Amino acid sequence: MDSTARYNKAIADLTENNQQHLLAFYDQLDNISRENLLCQVESLDFPEINSWIRDYVLNESPLEVPTNFDPASYYPVDPKDDNQAQIYDNAVNLGKKLLSDGKVAGFVVAGGQGTRLGFDGPKGNYQISQIRKKTLFRLFAEHILAVSAKYGAKIPWYIMTSPLNHSATLELFERNTYYGMDKNDVFIFQQGTNINFSLDGRILLADKCTLASSPDGHGGSLRAIYKSKALQDMQQRGIEQLSYWQVDNPLVHLFDPLFIGLHALEDAGMSSRALIKAHPTEKVGNFCLVDDKVTVIEYSDLPDDQAHRQNPDGSYVFELGSIAIHIVSTSFIDKLNSAGFALPIHRAVKKIPYIDPSGNTVNPDKPNGVKLETFVFDALPLASKSIILETLRQEEFAPVKNASGDDSPDVTRKMMTDRAAAWLEKAGIKVPRKADRTIDCVIEMSANFAVCADDAKAKVETVPRIKSGDSIYLG
Ligand code: UTP
Repeated sequence: MDSTARYNKAIADLTENNQQHLLAFYDQLDNISRENLLCQVESLDFPEINSWIRDYVLNESPLEVPTNFDPASYYPVDPKDDNQAQIYDNAVNLGKKLLSDGKVAGFVVAGGQGTRLGFDGPKGNYQISQIRKKTLFRLFAEHILAVSAKYGAKIPWYIMTSPLNHSATLELFERNTYYGMDKNDVFIFQQGTNINFSLDGRILLADKCTLASSPDGHGGSLRAIYKSKALQDMQQRGIEQLSYWQVDNPLVHLFDPLFIGLHALEDAGMSSRALIKAHPTEKVGNFCLVDDKVTVIEYSDLPDDQAHRQNPDGSYVFELGSIAIHIVSTSFIDKLNSAGFALPIHRAVKKIPYIDPSGNTVNPDKPNGVKLETFVFDALPLASKSIILETLRQEEFAPVKNASGDDSPDVTRKMMTDRAAAWLEKAGIKVPRKADRTIDCVIEMSANFAVCADDAKAKVETVPRIKSGDSIYLG
């Protein structure tokens, strides 16, 4: 078809679906931009788009929230009896074996826009460590290398980006010589995108020849791993388990043998770390059982009476919060994609820059449009088996989300020192504290020094005396 015929077909399709504004600036474009725009329009699947508009854009509360659910059971931080202690021992041994056999890889999702932090560029390039000013990507690479050395096996690293930050991320890795990792063991791939809509269901234009779109959510990772052939690469390397984490949490225990081992022992498809919520309505997802399947119900969807329901011992019935740390089996991802799967779509009303009918760029100061995303935890009920292992907030959860206040870099940095101090104190080292018992020094503990409290214990001899106000780097 020549370009005139293609234009005529496109305008007819768009008009039929009330989206003809997308070609409003066609006459003003050069040939390359016209071609580019026509390709985007031709790739639109109108039946699907119209169902999204009906179900998720015009409908304000589209997701069906289960009404019948129970709390999910979980493995506590410490085993509750001898029987469970034996299971933990077996799991640790299995986890260590999988690591030393090279069956485990790291997988970080780093395709988000990081709008709340307001940092320019990929969030992984944010300097979070207090003394050496290491970035999140550097900390993770050092952690991977340290665990790899500990178990004498390669641990490849898979990184999901989005079209918004893919080339910037590649450039960062090149410039930093892959943070000391072998370039061949780092696989960077992009997630998909979804188009953005105005609140009245029209597709937004980002500029005169580009439809507005945004990353399709961390749930997109399960398809992107497959489409990008990252899964194929994993299979060729014999990877069986993926340790999944988010780019904003430097405290995560990347390769905990207990977590990996429990997941593998139970032959689970996808498993989760959880913490006991700080209060009943903390803004984290809630682990529940729906039709016998582990399911995360978002904090906004958990009815208040359920959130406050208590057990006879005073604990909350729905006490387990999700912190986006998972083990996912490569066989589970393969099965999902081979059989075909769909995750529920979540609607987010956001400020989305767009081109108005006069061709001017508008940067809205209030939410004007809808982005559609899927969430990775929605895959949990698709797994035939899924285990949950409790962790402690101070050990493993300090995400950098906001520029200030809760979940800000200041809080994360303090938690990094606090955890290092706790590991040293556990090993018998005296760490200075103020009168109110808060830590009175800064400690930066590199992964090379320790990735867990036991590693720190083995290195006590090398730790200098720490005085009030000191800044100590343990490398
Ligand atoms: P968040 O939900 O915190 O979103 O992502 P965000 O985009 O990073 O930040 P805000 O909301 O714009 O401030 C949690 C994790 O999921 C990844 C992020 O990179 C982060 O590691 N993510 C999120 C993706 O990889 N892709 C997405 O489409 C969304």
